[in-house]
Amino acid sequence: MRSVVFLGVISLAAPLAAQPLRSLKNVPVPEPAGLSDYVRDRQALIVLGKALFWDMQAGSDGRTACATCHFHAGADHRSRNQLMDPVGEFTPNALLLDSMFPFRALADPSTRNSSILRDSAARAGSSGLFRRRFLDIVPGEAAERGEEILDAPAFTIGGMQVRRVTARNTPSSINAVFNVRNFWDGRASRVFNGFNPSGDGASAPGALVFKDGELVREPVRLDNASLASQAVGPVLDHLEMSYAGRTWPKLGKKMFSLPPLALQQVSADDSVLGPIARAGGRGLDERQSYLGMVRAAFLPKFWESGFLVNENGEILAGRTGEPHDTSEFTQAEFNFPVFWGLSLLAYQATLVSNDAPFDRFQEGDPGALTQEQQDGLRFYQTAGRCSTCHGGAEFTAASFSNNGRRAFQSTGVRPAGEDPGQGNASFKTSGLRNIELTGPYFHNGGQATLEQVVDFYARGGDFANGGLRAFNMTSTQKSALVAFLKSLTDDRVRFERAPFDHPELCVPAGHVESRPGVLVPAGSELFPRASAERWVALEAVGASGNQVPLRTFPELLAGAGGDGSRAHAMTAECTAPLP
Ligand code: HEC
Ligand code: HEC
Repeated sequence: MRSVVFLGVISLAAPLAAQPLRSLKNVPVPEPAGLSDYVRDRQALIVLGKALFWDMQAGSDGRTACATCHFHAGADHRSRNQLMDPVGEFTPNALLLDSMFPFRALADPSTRNSSILRDSAARAGSSGLFRRRFLDIVPGEAAERGEEILDAPAFTIGGMQVRRVTARNTPSSINAVFNVRNFWDGRASRVFNGFNPSGDGASAPGALVFKDGELVREPVRLDNASLASQAVGPVLDHLEMSYAGRTWPKLGKKMFSLPPLALQQVSADDSVLGPIARAGGRGLDERQSYLGMVRAAFLPKFWESGFLVNENGEILAGRTGEPHDTSEFTQAEFNFPVFWGLSLLAYQATLVSNDAPFDRFQEGDPGALTQEQQDGLRFYQTAGRCSTCHGGAEFTAASFSNNGRRAFQSTGVRPAGEDPGQGNASFKTSGLRNIELTGPYFHNGGQATLEQVVDFYARGGDFANGGLRAFNMTSTQKSALVAFLKSLTDDRVRFERAPFDHPELCVPAGHVESRPGVLVPAGSELFPRASAERWVALEAVGASGNQVPLRTFPELLAGAGGDGSRAHAMTAECTAPLP
């Protein structure tokens, strides 16, 4: 007892001590508390989560998955129509160019007080959906009924709509399970309420539970489940995946009416879905259904009742069995957000990259890091002071196993007024694993290369609100620090080997312009203002991964990799039967 008190005093006396850097292999993957009150088969839960994460049918347009923005080392890798500016004017459907980065450029990047060559509040985000209002689902069809809303002129050219773009850069879903809270501002609560990201801070309808022959409402509450809180955000968000006004029971009814991953090829060698992939076709074998997968994963009391309810979960007197229309719902349809959140958490909890050269070095292989990388590691921990915030095995104070004191920090990326983040322009300290593959960087996506990021820190940040201290750095030290950051890449991520393998995916890669600034109508009768787009395919990858590495963001800006030397060169034509 005495020694416990003693240790407590020591840690108070040294409040800023960084967590020592170490291998991620020995850090237990955080588990939601009380998961077994919901789930009966963890492997079945992962199968469901992986299918849902990659399924393009989940978006209201029947073409947008979680993976649409998280397909490249867990982040995005598109360059057309990824730019927006929440406070200033911007060109819709712009192409990201090397010459735009960094968004704030100084004549002398080593000092903040140097003359400003350009400065922009723009964000390199991710293309989401066209702005539309939800009308209803059509069971059996992936595309929902909707109508255009014309109140977002910033995302139109000449009256034609483009997909809207998120106001923050897309962080990686890999290793996100270690974050106590997710999103740049931490708004995905560690407590999952079964309905929305806000945890205990919001009222949630709870789940319908079948007990003693009756259907009763019970609150949902699981701690250590930020990824579940996160996952229930984007899917109903009218910028990311949804037409405005879509509801959970409608989404549940739609997904249960569709063959899983029907539009996409799945490798027979997929580490999770391979055994149930449809041989020589798209989707999973005909015995698979989302309802079947839910039944395999979750306790019967969450889906077994025959009672029907309305959209608010109120029992429809005298109605059981098959719903008559899209306003009647089964128990499983109503409980869909619980299935969605917990299964996506379980799948993303398998996306742990703990076998980088750095991990091997920590485990006792001195040859795993080059001498230059070891010099960079030393600089990272000393003069660079990077480890005060990016410490521990996860390289972020925002993780469970670190103390969390510097989980959210203001570092002066942008002035406080533009995006308050978690308050006073503080944002979640990013984990730095696989950072080589996930550019552009920062919540605004305003830095294209790790060299630019390191320059940013050496000059003490771009705005004084960060309170970062500038440091001196020779060009040798800078190269060493960047070389060290590249030792945090796990080759399984670089080559998309299991567990980072995945089904085929088509993503929208910008809108067609007949000449600069002139869009082409998509020719849709239902959505006359939709402009035509380019769709590119990412091929299905099995457990053994790709032959070539993922392309980096600087390589994307340089147009590299079209010769087949890089995966995700974004040139393969989409052949999926898009709805
Ligand atoms: C349209 C693009 C888009 C889609 C689709 C999308 N995301 Fe994201 N994702 C983002 C952006 C942008 C952020 C950062 C938003 C913020 O912090 O405000 C984010 C954040 C996250 C994070 C938090 C990571 C961290 O370190 O904080 C996770 C995990 C994640 N998304 C998983 C998912 C899942 C699961 C889905 C599907 C349910 C999904 N995303 C759909 C763009 C997207
Ligand atoms: C005071 C805490 C703090 C220190 C010290 C710090 N960082 Fe950061 N780091 C952050 C925060 C917070 C973010 C997210 C900032 C944002 O996007 O607004 C971040 C983001 C990053 C990113 C971008 C991550 C991404 O996915 O976009 C990189 C790379 C990075 N830091 C590297 C470093 C290096 C290298 C050092 C040392 C030279 C360092 N950091 C020092 C807190 C810190």
